[in-house]
Amino acid sequence: MSLSWDDEVTSTPAAPASETASAADIAKRVNADDKRIINAKTDVNQLVPFKYKWAWDKYLAGCANHWMPQEVNMQRDIELWKSPNGLSEDERRLVKRNLGFFVTADSLAANNIVLGTYRHITAPECRQYLLRQAFEEAIHTHAYQYIVESLGLDEKEIFNAYNEIPSIRDKDQFLIPFIEVINDPEFKTGTIENDQKLLRSVIVFACLMEGLFFYVGFTQILALGRQNKMTGAAEQYQYILRDESMHCNFGIDLINTIKMENPQLWTAEFREEIKQLFLQAVELEYRYAEDTMPRGVLGLNAPMFKSYLRFIANRRAVQIGLDPLFPNEENPFPWMSEMIDLKKERNFFETRVTEYQTGGALNWD
Ligand SMILES: [Fe+2]
Ligand SMILES: [Fe+2]
Repeated sequence: MSLSWDDEVTSTPAAPASETASAADIAKRVNADDKRIINAKTDVNQLVPFKYKWAWDKYLAGCANHWMPQEVNMQRDIELWKSPNGLSEDERRLVKRNLGFFVTADSLAANNIVLGTYRHITAPECRQYLLRQAFEEAIHTHAYQYIVESLGLDEKEIFNAYNEIPSIRDKDQFLIPFIEVINDPEFKTGTIENDQKLLRSVIVFACLMEGLFFYVGFTQILALGRQNKMTGAAEQYQYILRDESMHCNFGIDLINTIKMENPQLWTAEFREEIKQLFLQAVELEYRYAEDTMPRGVLGLNAPMFKSYLRFIANRRAVQIGLDPLFPNEENPFPWMSEMIDLKKERNFFETRVTEYQTGGALNWD
């Protein structure tokens, strides 16, 4: 039945109820101190009173950074891609392998959030952020699809790369068991073993997937943009990088708060296991760098990524309270930090103001 504003509104007066809540009901109200990131007994439907203000602030920041893929003009990219001498064979390989990883990666991320993580996180402020994050992952998948469509690439080839290209498949196969464990409808937190499974999964997702596996690909496309090539794609990636760096920071805050509230999970054995996962992820991402750049391209080459990946892995390890895995690594791409940190300034490619203000205004006339 459709709503019509002309219908007469008839209402039956409600039976007089007590105007004020009973003392027993008041005693049941949510007390912020009782909230917990996992295994809380408090009502997940009540956003306030706030306890995890950092999560709410990230939700607001995510909304302030809103953007949509169609806002970016792809015309120059299309011309460059179609022109026979526009890009070298190595540059074309790099773009296709890059999209081959990302077109499915953000669907994996979105599914992991809505089918897994969300159910097990009992702080409503964190759930609110995860809802925003899930939508951002949808926008990222949209952006990659939009690039594939704009360039007229073979969709089947690109969307199946995660089944067919070993360097991409290996990264996804490393991730999938950590996603599946918490997406299993039978899985429940509440024991040390299962709480560790959840924490491990959140660490793999935030620190190794969003925080490490995305970085070779982001650097490559942004390096193209810095040389004035594929500037539309580079602009899309720049917005995605900004979103992902927020996802990663949210994940790290989540991990550290779970650790603080549940110190029994952070055993020496668990830490050692996490360290081994970090080393494995660095190796997989390095192999992806070699595969996407068999020769030097755009002033980049795979060995430069060895130190970059070690530098990032150190940073992620320290952010969650582990020792650096590769002491004394330096960042070979300091310009990447500027890409992440952009805020209100006009963006690097000067095509639009990066800070998203609002969508079209509603007009009731
Ligand atoms: Fe994403
Ligand atoms: Fe993400």
